[in-house]
Amino acid sequence: MATLVLPNPSLVALVGAAGSGKSTFAARWFAADVVLSSDAYRAILTGDESDQAATRTAFSILHREVARRLAAGRPVVVDATNVERAARRALIARARAAGVPAVAIVLNLPPTLVHERNRGRTGRVVDPAVVDRHLDRLARTIARHELAEEGFDDVVVLRSAADVDGASVEWRTG
Ligand code: CTP
Ligand code: MG
Repeated sequence: MATLVLPNPSLVALVGAAGSGKSTFAARWFAADVVLSSDAYRAILTGDESDQAATRTAFSILHREVARRLAAGRPVVVDATNVERAARRALIARARAAGVPAVAIVLNLPPTLVHERNRGRTGRVVDPAVVDRHLDRLARTIARHELAEEGFDDVVVLRSAADVDGASVEWRTG
């Protein structure tokens, strides 16, 4: 049972393919008012959390809100795939600007499990080809140890459903 102790405030980036369980993890461990989700912004903008046409605007609002909250001394958890380096860089830059640490929590689960979860969703099922692209990007990111190199101060990689289920999260204050 691993306890993840997160500095407060900090920027916490969840990293994982669509269907890997990021939103489930966020709902279990974080108060709703610290979580910012790209899907939620898409939904606000278009009424459809999977509307990819809203991606650019959704992220622009999300990044502004991340900066605003960090500047106010509040912690932020970003629930988005964050499998692309550019997405992670945008978050690290905002953590740096606010002078707070950036932590990555990576859901690096077996591809078969991620596909199974994605298929089994009641609402939004993501195109399996998109999930494969996410899994591929993530595998490369991990193989090349890119996260620490990009500037994350702490990188936690959860490698199995048992790792994820066994993890608990606490904020370290003061
Ligand atoms: N799920 C599950 N057991 C878990 C975690 C998730 O059965 N321990 C299921 C969820 O109920 C959901 C699916 O797997 O039906 C995907 O989980 P979700 O948290 O929505 O995944 P995300 O990573 O948030 O996917 P997306 O990037 O598409 O939002
Ligand atoms: Mg989600």
